[in-house]
Amino acid sequence: MTGPRLAPLALALLALTGLARAAEPLGPPGEPAKSFPKPDRPVAEIVAAQWALEREREKADEFGQVARLMGFKAGETVADIGAGSGYYVTRLSPLLGPQGRVLGEDVTPRYLADLEGRVRKAGLGNVTVVRGEPHDPRLAPASVDAAILVHMYHEITQPYGLLHNLAAAMKPGGRVGIVDADDIPSRHGTPPKLLRCELSAAGYRETGFSVLDGGVGYLAIFAAPAPGARPEPATIRPCRDEATRAAPR
Ligand SMILES: C[S@@+](CC[C@H](N)C(=O)[O-])C[C@H]1O[C@@H](n2cnc3c(N)ncnc32)[C@H](O)[C@@H]1O
Repeated sequence: MTGPRLAPLALALLALTGLARAAEPLGPPGEPAKSFPKPDRPVAEIVAAQWALEREREKADEFGQVARLMGFKAGETVADIGAGSGYYVTRLSPLLGPQGRVLGEDVTPRYLADLEGRVRKAGLGNVTVVRGEPHDPRLAPASVDAAILVHMYHEITQPYGLLHNLAAAMKPGGRVGIVDADDIPSRHGTPPKLLRCELSAAGYRETGFSVLDGGVGYLAIFAAPAPGARPEPATIRPCRDEATRAAPR
């Protein structure tokens, strides 16, 4: 084969490798989006792959605070729902170690491609990047010890569906931590009272609540319901929060 022909072939092979690596769902579809009520409040637009610059987050020891409160342990499988550019993914990977697994899930194709590049470049062998859907993280059933949703809850267009389908992916006793700002969704936050109402409507039980240092927001921790204990989607009544509803949609 001549030199000039090698370049297109190499490019084609690279493209194929890239396709093979492109994020895919990890589990079968759960309940479809149409089974769930829409939230009775505004939902924030997806505007960025990260909540804040990583150096600012490091100054606040954001990861350290969340990791301690969530009690992450080596060997666990942790799902980062709405992983964005990977602030948590890249720090969870060494903490969970070779026996552990990080599932970096998101719904925005561009962010997923960038996250895959970052993971590959850093050689993080225990990380899997996962393409989910707004109502379903598409993770394998009963596979996750702990899940975190960091500064993204207010962007979920189908929170009841996502919580219902996420619960099926959690191992018994699985803990779900939500970090958000105490503000209305159109200002990229979720009032804790509204959060508690929506999580409770999906069958989750609150087990902890802390205000994080350094202006990071709050961390609310919940126990996910066992799959058989989840409320039937048709019985879920969306929560109302007057201050939030009055805000622009
Ligand atoms: C502000 S970024 C935060 C990213 C990251 N968690 C962090 O703390 O930097 C919000 C992320 O959530 C993702 N997202 C929004 N709705 C989602 C959904 N229903 N399921 C999964 N990810 C979602 C967006 O694509 C975006 O990457």
